[in-house]
Amino acid sequence: MEYRRFGRTGWQVSEIGYGMWGMAGWTNSDDAQSERSLDIAVEGGCNFFDTAWGYGKGKSEQILGRLIKRHPNQRLYVATKIPPKNMKWPSKREYKLEDCFPADHIISYTEKSLKNLGLETIDLQQFHVWEDNWAEQEEWQRAVEKLKTEGKIQHMGVSVNRWEPENVLNTLRTGHISSVQVIYNIFDQAPEDALFPLCRELDIATIARVPFDEGTLTGTFTLETTFPKEDWRSTYFVPENLQASVAHADRLKPLIPEGMTMPEMALRFILSNPDVSTTIPGMRKPQHVQSNLGTSDGEGLPQDLLVELKQHRWDREPTAWSQ
Ligand SMILES: NC(=O)c1ccc[n+]([C@@H]2O[C@H](COP(=O)([O-])OP(=O)(O)OC[C@H]3O[C@@H](n4cnc5c(N)ncnc54)[C@H](OP(=O)(O)O)[C@@H]3O)[C@@H](O)[C@H]2O)c1
Repeated sequence: MEYRRFGRTGWQVSEIGYGMWGMAGWTNSDDAQSERSLDIAVEGGCNFFDTAWGYGKGKSEQILGRLIKRHPNQRLYVATKIPPKNMKWPSKREYKLEDCFPADHIISYTEKSLKNLGLETIDLQQFHVWEDNWAEQEEWQRAVEKLKTEGKIQHMGVSVNRWEPENVLNTLRTGHISSVQVIYNIFDQAPEDALFPLCRELDIATIARVPFDEGTLTGTFTLETTFPKEDWRSTYFVPENLQASVAHADRLKPLIPEGMTMPEMALRFILSNPDVSTTIPGMRKPQHVQSNLGTSDGEGLPQDLLVELKQHRWDREPTAWSQ
């Protein structure tokens, strides 16, 4: 496993981190299998775990708390998130700070997360939705600094809404934020335009989330792929999205180097960018953990393939189904 500096925190985090949404919210999760997968990841050197209160109303945080107890001698970095008070994802331009993150809510949900995790302090707390027009409002800034002073959190980050990588730029300049979590993968290259350069300038860490485009970039989806009604992906991969996603993924198939898989190419694309501090694939199955950790060998992808993959950038606008 290769490690990277996590912005101004100075932490050395594994470049393959761990996304913990699926195991506490998607259908067909098996807790014993998820816990085994997490243990394999720790044994393989993964030390950065991304969870949220919103992933099963604390269930994912509790799974992470148990992992930390099972590995008391490992330094595992914990990143979690505060849900918006109105429990609506994503936020919209018209939402006010008090609809989503009033000070008492920031404090009380951090306390709930500490309890779920069984910890005295959270390495990285994050806002689970964000609007950049809240940047200058002192209420969130004061609450964040209070949590830091009391030692309940070490650092604060923002997780930006899907396909809105620039809806945070002014907030990053306030000095209260140490990391940004953003969708970045072969399709979603827009963070390279303004977000990554600003993070470089301000020494803010970047967490590249959704490396497989929620599954499209594993290359396993077809036009016949369906999800159970109670799985959020049934409302995300609506026919319009599924058809376009499968078409975009199919265009990548001829580019996969011999001996490589599409998930491997997808992760290596992300790791080839030094502006990325860590990427956090969602994984519940041991074989996925093993294969994903295996891409961290410092080799990335050949330059000509990277140039070719740049052509597969796919800019999308938030829609009614994009969540
Ligand atoms: N608003 C936010 O802040 C926000 C939103 C979305 C996601 N996130 C974070 O980002 C993380 C990653 O995103 P995500 O989980 O939504 O999507 P993702 O990482 O793009 O895709 C996860 C899917 O890929 C599959 N997979 C993983 N490795 C694979 C491999 N080697 N071969 C084939 N399939 C593989 C997983 O299967 P299995 O699960 O069956 O192993 C799962 O179905 C989340 O877990 C969460 O921590 C944050």
